[in-house]
Amino acid sequence: MTARTEFEAALGSLRHYISERGDFNMAAAFHADKTRFERLSLRLDDLLFDFSKTSLDARTLALLENLAKAAGIEEKRAAMFAGDAINETECRPALHVALRAPEHQEIRLGGHNIIADVQAVLAEMAEFSDGVRGSQICGATGKAFTDIVNIGIGGSDLGPKMVTRALKPYHDGPTCHFVSNIDGADIADHLENLDPQTTLFIIVSKSFTTLETMSNARIARQWIVQKLGEGAVTKHFVAVSTAQGKVEDFGINNKHIFGFWNWVGGRMSVWSAVGLSVMLAIGAQAFRAFLSGAAAMDEHFLKQPLGANIPVVLGLIGFFHRVISAFPTRSVVPYEQRLRHLPAYLQQLDMESNGKRTCLDGKSSSLPTAPVVWGAAGTNAQHAFFQLLHQGSDIIPVEFILCAHGHEQYLQAEHNQLIANCLAQAQALMIGNSTQMVEDELITQGFAAAQAQKLAPHRTFPGNRPSLILLQDRLTPFSLGRLLALYEHRMFVEGVLFNINSFDQWGVELGKNLAAEIAPLLTGAPLTGESKLTQQDGSTAGLITHLRHRMEHF
Ligand code: F6P
Repeated sequence: MTARTEFEAALGSLRHYISERGDFNMAAAFHADKTRFERLSLRLDDLLFDFSKTSLDARTLALLENLAKAAGIEEKRAAMFAGDAINETECRPALHVALRAPEHQEIRLGGHNIIADVQAVLAEMAEFSDGVRGSQICGATGKAFTDIVNIGIGGSDLGPKMVTRALKPYHDGPTCHFVSNIDGADIADHLENLDPQTTLFIIVSKSFTTLETMSNARIARQWIVQKLGEGAVTKHFVAVSTAQGKVEDFGINNKHIFGFWNWVGGRMSVWSAVGLSVMLAIGAQAFRAFLSGAAAMDEHFLKQPLGANIPVVLGLIGFFHRVISAFPTRSVVPYEQRLRHLPAYLQQLDMESNGKRTCLDGKSSSLPTAPVVWGAAGTNAQHAFFQLLHQGSDIIPVEFILCAHGHEQYLQAEHNQLIANCLAQAQALMIGNSTQMVEDELITQGFAAAQAQKLAPHRTFPGNRPSLILLQDRLTPFSLGRLLALYEHRMFVEGVLFNINSFDQWGVELGKNLAAEIAPLLTGAPLTGESKLTQQDGSTAGLITHLRHRMEHF
């Protein structure tokens, strides 16, 4: 049997069991089995992963484990950690794990130990960050840097921004700002409040060609030149890139280029020099703790048996919900205000990685692949989209993220409310209530029977809706690193189950190329019948013509 036929057979057994089993009621399962919580939760130190509020049972878990084996998770995981070229369409490894590997470890690529390279760049980052934080490295007029502007987009923005915001209680360095959008409003709003003498720009782009980043970098450069003169550029700009030549052409001193490597995907790059803004905000030691948290999860992922392996089980549940239960989306709701940017980060991580329907063999997948990932921080989300989660027509599994402790000890009562709300939402999704219960309650409250009957369906919660909880002691550099590495490995596991290459992103190319053709049509000579406009589709041509008219007559 080929590996994929084995997978099909394992998937067939799982489907067969689920259809034979029929309806599954989570609340009833808890009544029937007092050990359900213990059996359907996993721990790694203070990290608890509770998946008991799902329709999984012991048999489903065993069948999912078989599926993971048949998909070759163990072999593919080993290949990723060994540096094999698992990103097949770009012929390169996906070695983000090397960025947080212990110093003494060796990973050889073409006979060369890349851990030594990683450590060398980390040392350069630490030296630079210590210099800026200690005011030994200053701006052109001798003033210390108070503000850092990270200019990047996608993985060169979402990771550092999310991590910097998440670790606010650890900030003892300059204030970090993040500019990403080609919309000039983004950089304009930032520059308005900044002092050029005390502002340092970090241009972060793996390729150093990305339209948005290059455009914002040019605007920032012009701003510095206008305010402080051309000579100030070398003092006020550093870059993070794999494209050294292009960075030098921009005018950045090669001493101020922090490198990384083409075996790091943008969406997994926050552990590299892409995280320079994080290091500037929290310091080199705390950044190392962030890497150690990820390394702890890497070790767990690598060594734990499949059924006790948190990223593997999380990935299997993701696959189960998408393929067996046919849930089209999943929601991530951190009950931690400082993790408010996590859903956007995970959108890129999951949807850019696994939002593909072509399998490794070039054929279209017969299975659904990545779900839509979305969410927002709780409790705010409760007042926005939880209505739909509880009573909407689609079932959407929710991933709750929670910490036992906040950082503000004097606000413990508020933190307890936060926890209570998180647990209550997960409970409500599961237990729901019946129309009869609601009707009885309304009558007890004094409603007439006919009115109670009319109102009850609107106040009924179907319940039996799945959710997961990831609970840690506190959001620290270490625990955040561990959480993000968990999500990276979960994405990898799902990609293996979907049988796709999670590490390329060809789907972003077409729109970029078309924008390059459309941009010149918005300015310049009046459009004529012979112009490139006629090569556009009817709708786009109509919109361009309308826009030209509105621009000219505004
Ligand atoms: O959106 C496509 C993409 O290539 C992402 O994968 C990446 O994170 C982002 O653009 C930015 O790319 P770069 O770091 O090369 O500017």
